Amino acid sequence: MSPEELDSILASAKTGFFAVASRPEWESFKATVLGPKGSFTAMSKGLADVPKDQKPTIGKKLNEVKKAIEAACDEALRRVEALAALSTLGPAIDPTLPAPREIMGSRHPINQTYDRIVDIFKGIGFSVRLPRELETEWFCFDALNSPPDHPSRDMQDTYFMPEGIVVPSSPPHGDKDRYLLGTQTSTAQIRTMLKEKPPIRIIAPGRCFRRDDADAGHSSNFHQFEGLYVDKNVSLKDFKACMDYFVRELFGPNAETRLRPSYFSFVEPGFELDVRTANLGKLSNRWFEIWGCGMVHPNVLKNVGIDPEIYSGYAFGPGVERIAMILRGVDDIRYYYQNDLRFLKQLA
Ligand code: PHE
Repeated sequence: MSPEELDSILASAKTGFFAVASRPEWESFKATVLGPKGSFTAMSKGLADVPKDQKPTIGKKLNEVKKAIEAACDEALRRVEALAALSTLGPAIDPTLPAPREIMGSRHPINQTYDRIVDIFKGIGFSVRLPRELETEWFCFDALNSPPDHPSRDMQDTYFMPEGIVVPSSPPHGDKDRYLLGTQTSTAQIRTMLKEKPPIRIIAPGRCFRRDDADAGHSSNFHQFEGLYVDKNVSLKDFKACMDYFVRELFGPNAETRLRPSYFSFVEPGFELDVRTANLGKLSNRWFEIWGCGMVHPNVLKNVGIDPEIYSGYAFGPGVERIAMILRGVDDIRYYYQNDLRFLKQLA
């Protein structure tokens, strides 16, 4: 027995243990090394024949190799057991998808409003796409025509993930692209247009995350819809007609709308939509701002490979809490997140 022979037994034991993929494989490989007839066992028996003066050195080496083989063996067992446990858990989860919204008891007021909005848009040919909650900077900003140094990013410069994270189902766009919790559902525009060809008519209900101090009107996590229509010859007139229809379905047939110029990097022209209607408590008969919207910016279409000379479109981003609050006369957004049954039962 020589140190070289021991090293080569260790090397092949390590390779073998590394390759086992199940408990039975592990058991049978273990027997070929450490079992009564195993290679290492046979080798250790040779210690008796080693000349006396070499025994201490070889004996020490033998011990080291034994420890290393046992460590590789234990490590392999832990690995195959973890694999077996994983396989009982079903398919791997995709951390970028939203959580299921099924609930017990009554539907949460936010979900009631969701359903209402989805119903209205489904009725006029829009279909639903789910935005991701874990997004990358490219989808959140760059693709939406907001360059890195643009001041409008400051407002949404928020929950970044640690560097080095890669989500295979949603790969980053180049090696500088970082993950963050989605700050707006407008990312759904980009993801949809990259996958589908016009005509595209979608609404995407999702959650947004921004660094905001909580008060009656702000929450660092809220819900938003993205609406997008892209086709040939989509005009501002079509857009206004769609908004009028939606607002009247939501607030009643007498509701009026008004477009007020505003800035969002991904629309041109961009607007805030104002609404005025009777019978809405404190808000009756006065203009109030309701959501951002506008005509899709040609640069956004270019970013997703759609020719802005041929196609045009509109986009809008209603906030779910805001609509829910206006419809039910709730004056503090924080009620929606406190799970206070007294509040939830009133709106059930
Ligand atoms: N994403 C914008 C926001 O979060 C809203 C918006 C959507 C504006 C679509 C214009 C067009 O405020």
